[in-house]
Amino acid sequence: MKVGILTGGGDCPGLNAVIRGIVRKGEKVYGDTLLGFADGWRGVIDNEFSTLDVNRMRGTLPRGGTIIGTSRINPYMFSDGVEKVKRTVEENGLDAIIAIGGEGTLSCSAELFREGIPVVGVPKTIDNDIGITERTFGFDTAVHIATEAIDRLHTTAESHNRIMVVEVMGRHVGHIATWAGMAGGATMTLIPEYPFDIEEVCASLRRRHEKGRYASIVVVAEGAKPKEGTLSIKPDEYDEYGHIRLGGIGNLVAREIEGRTGYETRVTILGHVQRGGAPTAHDRVLSTRFGVEAIDTVHDKGFGQMVALQSNQIIRVKLADAVAELKYVSPQLWETAQEFFA
Ligand code: F6P
Repeated sequence: MKVGILTGGGDCPGLNAVIRGIVRKGEKVYGDTLLGFADGWRGVIDNEFSTLDVNRMRGTLPRGGTIIGTSRINPYMFSDGVEKVKRTVEENGLDAIIAIGGEGTLSCSAELFREGIPVVGVPKTIDNDIGITERTFGFDTAVHIATEAIDRLHTTAESHNRIMVVEVMGRHVGHIATWAGMAGGATMTLIPEYPFDIEEVCASLRRRHEKGRYASIVVVAEGAKPKEGTLSIKPDEYDEYGHIRLGGIGNLVAREIEGRTGYETRVTILGHVQRGGAPTAHDRVLSTRFGVEAIDTVHDKGFGQMVALQSNQIIRVKLADAVAELKYVSPQLWETAQEFFA
């Protein structure tokens, strides 16, 4: 078979390991020809690709990022985008496209499948917010990086008797914040799913510090929101999509804590450090399993499906079902996390 591969959306540790899994099994077991489209759907629209083979994939398993590039461009942004995708598929005699991406890339893939494009999806995002799959690769790596940062911040916070606010990624969900907060022993964690009251946050910090503890770590997901009417966010702290800017909420929370409690407070915004560099062993294994299952799915003609992890088994689910809703932090996990606040 002739199979196209693309990586779309924000990059993520483990992308190369997925591509390697597809290429290794595709070439060695099925005798496939594999094409890597440049920069996600952009390369399919523009018919820009390079050949991927076992030789080219050597040394890529531990390498972060994606060797074929990524972008957030999708065919629905252009009036002739879908036509161009169909032309690329026809001209190159493609039997399938494997799209590795997050919510945006996979929603677009579900749509293209409805229009007759033979697509198989692989879920990717450090945010771990894609429905149906229990885990996406990249998440474990991001949590490790954030946890290490929290561990490091503990010692400097203790030396200076300071409050440290750590902003981590997670625009719509707080998986990274919750996990890293629990693993790092954070004093408190603020996530998008549960809006916070800044006065309650400060009251807890005061109670803790009055007991003689001076250092505190507050983990804030970038999409954390104050409870309505409790704290105003300036218009310039929002980006053009109406999301609070990266660094907006962390800075705001730190400013408010220092102003309201009088305790010296510093902020660290981890940003894209969480997405860069080598994937953890866990993510390399999950990526490899996803890659192998994706090429098997192509050969079973399971188009319109996405590979997913459930009960530690790799399964196939409908793309349309996978993108129907985001996966939020479960109330049970959040309850456990809260037991350790302040
Ligand atoms: O891939 C998901 C994500 O890392 C989010 O956590 C974050 O909000 C966003 O991407 C950042 O995107 P960009 O790389 O475009 O700044």
